Amino acid sequence: MYSILKSAHSGWAYLLLLILAIATINAIIGYFGKKEFGNKDFSLALVGLIVTHIQLLIGLALYFTPENLGRWEGFEMSNSPIRLLLIEHPLMMIIAVALLTIGYSKHKKKIVSNGKFKMLAIFYTLAFLVVLSRLPWSQWL
Ligand code: HEM
Repeated sequence: MYSILKSAHSGWAYLLLLILAIATINAIIGYFGKKEFGNKDFSLALVGLIVTHIQLLIGLALYFTPENLGRWEGFEMSNSPIRLLLIEHPLMMIIAVALLTIGYSKHKKKIVSNGKFKMLAIFYTLAFLVVLSRLPWSQWL
């Protein structure tokens, strides 16, 4: 079970980074380019949100496998690679999902195109940076 979840979580992360990058750049271009907010923009924001929520669910399942929880045994805070996997990565990814969800729901409440793009540009950029900051890059790639 652990290895299936780990492979799924690892593979899904490529898709997530790609979609989130596209959705974020699209929102920034839409905002600064003063574009009209259309169906394509809405779909990109929604797909970014869904893909990230799916990753959250896989991550939670992975977190509670005995193989991962076993890392708590003898764990010390000074052990930074394990601290990343047990604490920093999960916590920061949950914060990123919250930022995306807030941005998505705020953009829906805005009426004008520029306001919609603004909310998405701010919150999706923040979320994307949070994700990039706490991925276990060295063990992943
Ligand atoms: C939502 C955005 C997330 C992204 C983009 C992401 C991405 C990744 C990546 C790329 C890895 C390395 C996989 C590998 O070494 O093959 C990883 C590992 C891990 N992630 Fe996430 N993750 C996310 C959310 C979460 C959440 C919310 C949790 C738990 C609550 C979580 C728990 C874990 C754990 C426990 C590992 C270590 C797996 C292992 O080596 O045993 N992740 N994650």
